[in-house]
Amino acid sequence: MKDRSTLVAPSILSADFARLGDEVRAVERAGADWIQVDAMDGHFVPNITIGPLVVEALRKVTRLPLDVHLMIENADDYIPAFAKAGADIITVHQEACPHLNRSVALIRELGKKAGVSINPATALETLDFIIGDIDLALLMSVNPGFGGQSLIPSALEKARRLSRIAHERHLALDIQMDGGIKPENAAAVRGAGVNVLVAGSAVFGASDYAAAISSLRG
Ligand code: DX5
Repeated sequence: MKDRSTLVAPSILSADFARLGDEVRAVERAGADWIQVDAMDGHFVPNITIGPLVVEALRKVTRLPLDVHLMIENADDYIPAFAKAGADIITVHQEACPHLNRSVALIRELGKKAGVSINPATALETLDFIIGDIDLALLMSVNPGFGGQSLIPSALEKARRLSRIAHERHLALDIQMDGGIKPENAAAVRGAGVNVLVAGSAVFGASDYAAAISSLRG
C-alpha cells in the first residue's frame, strides 16, 4: 500500500488572484505539499476560472506538484494543453467524461498522474471499472464551483468505503477530498481514509498559512 502520510493541497480558488504567484510561494513556504489548481468552464460547473496559461505561469513559481482539477466538459480536448503547461496530476470528472478510460489513458500517455473525481451525489460504484487504472480518486465534499461551502457529511462514508476497497484490492491510490475541509473536521476526514486534503478558504482565509496547513495535516 502507498505511504499514507497526510498531504495538504491548498486550492488556489480562494487565493488573492491579484497576487497569485506570491500566494503560491507563500503556501509553499508554509508547508503545502501540492498546489491544487481549479479549472472551471462555466458549463460543467456554474463558475469560470483559469486555463493552461495560468498553470504555465505558476509552473515557473513553484516546484511543488501542480494538481490540476478539471471541472470542465470536453476535458479530452484540453488535457494535452494542461500537461504541456506543467501539470503533474490531472484530474477529470467521471460525470463529464463519457469515455473515461480513454481520458485516463491520455493523461498517463502524457506522463502525468491521472485522477478521477466524483461529485457528492455520484455513486462510488461509478469508479468500479476505472479505479485500478488511476493514481488518485478525488471525492468532492461540496458541489463544485465555489470555495467557502460546507462539507457534505455523506462524503466521509464514501471515503471510508473507498479506503476499504483500495486496501482489499491493494491499490496504490491517493484518496483526495475537496470542499469544506477545515481544522475542525480535518481529523474526521483523515480518519475516513483520505490522505490528500484539499483546502481553499481554510488556508487562504487564515492569517497564518503555516498554522492552517499544520492543523489540517494533524
Ligand atoms: C470547489 C473547488 C474546491 C474549493 C475548495 O469547486 O474545487 O477546490 O476551492 O474550497 P474550500 O476549501 O473553501 O471549500
